[in-house]
This record gives sequence, C-alpha cells and structure tokens, in this order.
Amino acid sequence: MPAAIPGEAMKELADKIAFITGAASGIGLGIATALGQAGVKVMLCDIEEVALATALEGLKRTNADVGGVTADVSLKDELRHAADETLARYGKVHILVNNAGVTGRVPYGTWNDPAWNWRLGVNLMAVIWGIEIFGPPNRASRRRRPESSPPHPWLASSPCRA
Ligand SMILES: NC(=O)c1ccc[n+]([C@@H]2O[C@H](COP(=O)([O-])OP(=O)(O)OC[C@H]3O[C@@H](n4cnc5c(N)ncnc54)[C@H](O)[C@@H]3O)[C@@H](O)[C@H]2O)c1
Repeated sequence: MPAAIPGEAMKELADKIAFITGAASGIGLGIATALGQAGVKVMLCDIEEVALATALEGLKRTNADVGGVTADVSLKDELRHAADETLARYGKVHILVNNAGVTGRVPYGTWNDPAWNWRLGVNLMAVIWGIEIFGPPNRASRRRRPESSPPHPWLASSPCRA
C-alpha cells in the first residue's frame, strides 16, 4: 500500500459539497464542523429552527462556507425541498450524511401507531428518501467525473446505519 501523503485527504475534500441531516446538534454538527474545517461547503438540515440558526452562526464565525435549511426529514416533500434548496445554492452534492435520528423515550411495547410511524419516518424512510432524492443528480455528475474518481463519494450515513 502506498504511504499516505500528508494533506492528501484535505486536498480531496476541499470544495466538495455536503448535505447533512440532523446537523444542528450532536454528531451531525460535529460532522459539519469537521467537514467545514476541511474546506467542504456544507448544507445543514434540521427540524429545529433555532438550534440550526445557532449552529450556522457558530460555523460562519470559523469562516466555513455553510448554508442551512429547516426540514422534517420524515416528510418526503420537506426533504425534497431541502434538496432543492441545496442544489440551488451549491449546484450538486458530493457527500450525503443521513444522520438525523430519534430514539423512543417511552418503554418498548407502549408505542402507538403514530409513534412507530414517526420513528420509522425519521430513522428509516428519511435515509431511503435521501438516497432516492439525491441519487439522480449525482448519477449525472458521476458520468462527468474522470474514471480515476471513486464511484460513490457522496454516499454516507450515520455511524449505525448501513
Ligand atoms: N449518540 C449516540 O451514542 C448514538 C449511537 C448510535 C447511533 N446514533 C445515531 O446517530 C445520529 C445522531 O445522534 P446524536 O446523538 O447526534 O443525536 P441528537 O439527538 O443529538 O441529534 C439529532 C439531530 O437530528 C435532528 N432531528 C431529529 N429529528 C429530525 C427530523 N425529523 N428532521 C430533521 N432533523 C431531525 C435533531 O433536531 C438533532 O439536531 C442519530 O441518527 C442517532 O440515532 C447515535
């Protein structure tokens, strides 16, 4: 295996564009911060408007190129709108981070149907829709990439998701 070239990863990430769900706090904000520091342009998406504004303010102070869009990613139309906003601002997405997730705060066995639908919407369907919605424009951009480029650089998800 060839020796790692110092700075190589940073060079590859610079000027790439990322879309991150659940980016206003926790792991999503951590990823947004790290990518922003590496020169990636980051679109932060979150359901929490105030937390999102605070996160954007903090990242802009570091000179990161970031934008934000509010969306409930469990609702396909809202996720699609967030994708449209991202493509309108940055043109394409290289790195998709389907990070938003919710946990159950009531004991297992006591959830009703709306509770199941909400959790499955955020934790499962939003991931599937993210790939579906961002897939077509990125398939188009893959065709334009040089052959030496990696095949799926945009596809990522939270640490526990396939
Ligand atoms: N923290 C852990 O130890 C851990 C462990 C395993 C998996 N995970 C997963 O990693 C991801 C991030 O975890 P975290 O600890 O940073 O969580 P967190 O609760 O700190 O942050 C989640 C973010 O997602 C946002 N969000 C929630 N529902 C949303 C929706 N419908 N639409 C848009 N945004 C929404 C929240 O507002 C919040 O900003 C989650 O998917 C979580 O399930 C976390």
